[in-house]
Amino acid sequence: MSVSIIVGAQWGDEGKGKIVDMLSEEADIVARYQGGANAGHTIVFDGKKYVLHLIPSGILHPETTCVIGNGVVIDPVALMEEIHMLESMGISVEGRLHISHKAHLIMPYHKHLDAAREKQAGSIGTTGRGIGPAYYDKALRTGIRIVDLLDRDVLREKIRHNLEEKNQLLQALYGAEPIDVDAMIDEYVEFDSRIDPYITDTTLLLNSALKEGKRVLAEGAQGALLDLDHGTYPFVTSSNPTSGGACTGLGIPPTAISSVMGVVKAYSTRVGNGPFPTELNDETGELLRTEGHEFGATTGRKRRCGWLDIPALRYSIMINGISEIALTKLDVLGVLDDIRLCTGYVVDGKVVKSFPADVATLSRVECTYQSYPGWKSSLDGIRSFADLPPAAQHYVEEIERLLETPVRWVSTSPAREDTFLR
Ligand code: IMP
Repeated sequence: MSVSIIVGAQWGDEGKGKIVDMLSEEADIVARYQGGANAGHTIVFDGKKYVLHLIPSGILHPETTCVIGNGVVIDPVALMEEIHMLESMGISVEGRLHISHKAHLIMPYHKHLDAAREKQAGSIGTTGRGIGPAYYDKALRTGIRIVDLLDRDVLREKIRHNLEEKNQLLQALYGAEPIDVDAMIDEYVEFDSRIDPYITDTTLLLNSALKEGKRVLAEGAQGALLDLDHGTYPFVTSSNPTSGGACTGLGIPPTAISSVMGVVKAYSTRVGNGPFPTELNDETGELLRTEGHEFGATTGRKRRCGWLDIPALRYSIMINGISEIALTKLDVLGVLDDIRLCTGYVVDGKVVKSFPADVATLSRVECTYQSYPGWKSSLDGIRSFADLPPAAQHYVEEIERLLETPVRWVSTSPAREDTFLR
């Protein structure tokens, strides 16, 4: 049995889409295990740019089967838009995309509630895609699942029951307009007829494929530090992007996992609120943002930028079991005179050994930095490690040394061909 998991090792936006797209060539199935349309995976090939929010990046390889697992929360509008976009670009989806009948649906009231909550004090800075409220209903056991679409009466009753409560919440607590029950039922009945060809028991599909010796790539969305349990809570997403989430989010056993690859951006970024120890609120941060086009693929928001954070990455490697790294966006650092790596955290004059669990402490850490000379040149056209400028090679080797984990892949541009194996 062979499942390789790909996780984002930081706060998301590490460039997982590109790495999954590249590794899809070797995989029979690519399966997404958590999150929803809050993700934005950008892939560039043949000069075309594709941004996928829900459908696994493997869909761009005609031979690859794609799965959206039970752990994902599905926004019908986003899903249909994405299928339409792919089909209109000549990429056939039907017969290749399989959606779990156990996945939960994002309903319009989830998006309304997400938006309303974000207007309150102490907001998380969510993507506004209804993710938190949908997982909340899942945990509360009032969520609506894909399987509920099969029975119109059950669907009608569940929507009606949910809306009774949500409309009260929207009106009383947030002063928002109530939602019309009948219009919503019609919308979801119409969605059911369109989604029907894709729905299946993906747990069975994946486990049967594994028995036959097929190779599965499990694709995480967001990043480990946004994990609901292990991230910088409460400034996290509402699912488990860490490798453990792949088992529950797909229904595959831990014994099927053969490797975990962590995708690491050569510097750090974070969208939304929450602590960010190595953040650069200066010209260097601005330069990284412009050079790295650090604007959210889903919301267009500015990403906060900072130096690579070794203590945070050590923690991420530990909780995910990362055995190899794909290092992305190394080219972006080519504009800097010198580059820093945060090698340790100090709080109240004491070196901190473990990653702080509370936001208050994490917001107070002082970072210890190590400086490295920049290479001050473009990495255009470089397709091997040996051809990298010596300073860039040294930076990569230092990351490996400090993390005690090999950097197996290095990516030097958004294009598919500019990723090479060490
Ligand atoms: P939510 O997932 O929309 O509830 O947002 C919760 C937090 O996760 C916010 O800080 C978002 O900016 C962040 N987030 C969610 N999805 C992504 C992503 O794909 N990349 C980076 N940050 C994300």
